[in-house]
This record gives sequence, C-alpha cells and structure tokens, in this order.
Amino acid sequence: MGAGIAQLCVEAGVDTVGREVSMELAERAQERIAHFLTRKVEKGQIESFEIERLALTTSLDELADCDLVIEAIVEELGAKQALFAELERICRADAVLATNTSALSVTEIAAATSSPERVVGMHFFNPAPLMPLVEIVRAELTGDAAFDAAFSFGERLGKHPIRCHDTPGFVVNRVLIPLLNDCVRVLDEARVAVEDLDAGMKHGAGWPMGPCELLDLVGIDVHVHASEALYEKTREPRMAPPPRLVAMRNAGLLGRKSGRGFYAY
Ligand code: 3HC
Repeated sequence: MGAGIAQLCVEAGVDTVGREVSMELAERAQERIAHFLTRKVEKGQIESFEIERLALTTSLDELADCDLVIEAIVEELGAKQALFAELERICRADAVLATNTSALSVTEIAAATSSPERVVGMHFFNPAPLMPLVEIVRAELTGDAAFDAAFSFGERLGKHPIRCHDTPGFVVNRVLIPLLNDCVRVLDEARVAVEDLDAGMKHGAGWPMGPCELLDLVGIDVHVHASEALYEKTREPRMAPPPRLVAMRNAGLLGRKSGRGFYAY
C-alpha cells in the first residue's frame, strides 16, 4: 500500500519521501513505481513523470519537513501508536499525520500523541493506484484543518474522497469484509468450486473480479486480521473470519504475495 500511495504522489508531481524498513525494499518499490508509471506514459495516460520526486530512506528523521505523512505500516495498534508518538516528535508542529489503517481505530492511534487534532484517517483501497476511492476518516479529536487538508490531498492525487467517521470498518470495509466472509462460507455450504463462485459474482452481480481473486489480491492474512479486528469491536458473527481462511493464513497461503492462495500465481 505504501508504494502504491507513493506512486500516486509521484504521478501528481508531489515531492515525496518513501520510508521503508530496508533500502532493498525501498529500491524494489521504486522500481515497481517506475515500471507502472512508464507503462502509463507508453499507453498515453500521462505525458511524463519525475521519479526524482521520490526520495528513499529508512530513517524517520527524513520526514521532518513533510507537510503530510501517510502511515501504512503493519496493522498492529501498538506499532502504530509507537510510530505516531515518534512522528509527533520528529515532524513539524503543523504537519498532518494520516493513517491508512483498514480496521483499527484512528482515535486510538491518535491517543498516542499529544496533538490528536492533527491525526486523521486516509484509507486507500487495494490496488491503491487503480482504485479511485479514499475514505477520509474523522477521529474523535481530529481538527477541521487536518481533515480538510487530507480531503484536499486525496483530490490532488486524483482520488474520489468521501467523508466518514471513525467507526469499525469505516464505510466500505464495514460492508465488504462480512460480504467476503459470506462468500467464503458459501464455498463450503453450497459446495461450489472457487472458479464457479468467482464466475457467479462476476457474471451475476457485476463484480470486477471474483471474491476469491479479490481475497488473493488483498492478502488472506490482511483480510483475516481485519475480520478479527472488526469482530472484536462489533461481535457480529459475520465479521469473524471463516475457519477456512484462518487455516489458509496459518498455512502461509496468503494469495498473490506468497505465490499461492485460492489460486496459484
Ligand atoms: N499501479 C499502476 N498500474 C497498475 C498497478 C499499479 N499498482 N497494478 C496494475 N496496474 C496496471 C496493470 O499493469 C494494467 O496495465 P497494463 O495495460 O500495462 O497491463 C492496468 O493497470 C490495468 O490492469 P488490469 O487489466 O488488471 O485492470 P482491470 O481493468 O482488470 O482492473 C482492478 C483491475 C482495478 C483491480 C479491478 O479488477 C477491480 O476493481 N477489482 C476490485 C478491487 C477491489 O475491490 N479492491 C478493494 C479491496 S478491499 C481493500 O482494499 C480494503 C483494505 O482495507 C483491505
């Protein structure tokens, strides 16, 4: 997600600092970004791009001059809270601090700082460069200045931002996560093949890709984690990850990123 968001920034002509945990990962992301943007030039979708706008680093200190920071690290509350406390120390006092969390509470992340008014959710969808939506999430103490800055930045990236509040799953995941869980339960209940379920939802409900293809794209681990987080908050049975997905996650069948999920890649 981080690389996808950085790609959008470079495409929009914004000076961007990409912070990764290792230079090797950062360079690999930069290569992917250059590849996709080069394809867009070849296809006539954009005239040009300046990859030099993307500076790579492993150090958080390099974010000190940024106007806006978009966090997309692991979906663990403790890790995010520690990072936001660190960002508050490093970044300018007027910098907006945004989280791309899917299923954690923006309010709880903001509570790790002493300036929660500048913390906001910017939730992108996978694959970030292709999906038009970004949810702009107002946490309990988000100030108007940070909220409006995040909304405007979403527009500047060419996205379709929508406004929402910090409720479990925000808008889209509140609907999509239980729906995808239902799809997986149907696999066993209706004894339907993976390919047929996918064909069913594509050709009978107009989905751009089947639910199993989509789960492989998002990552089985990411989806299970988001389901568990939403189940913990809502206690709605449909939010709980189906055992089949938990078993896949435990076996390392994570989808595209591991080479195997519902399908082999
Ligand atoms: N950046 C730029 N271009 C990219 C890219 C990227 N990261 N990834 C792929 N592309 C390119 C492809 O290479 C292709 O270009 P090419 O002509 O050079 O090959 C071009 O984009 C189009 O690719 P596709 O042919 O695969 O595009 P489709 O028209 O089939 O659309 C899709 C792909 C947009 C992914 C569409 O299938 C779709 O909308 N699927 C549903 C996705 C979805 O529902 N996402 C939400 C997931 S839930 C979520 O994210 C929430 C989170 O909290 C977990």
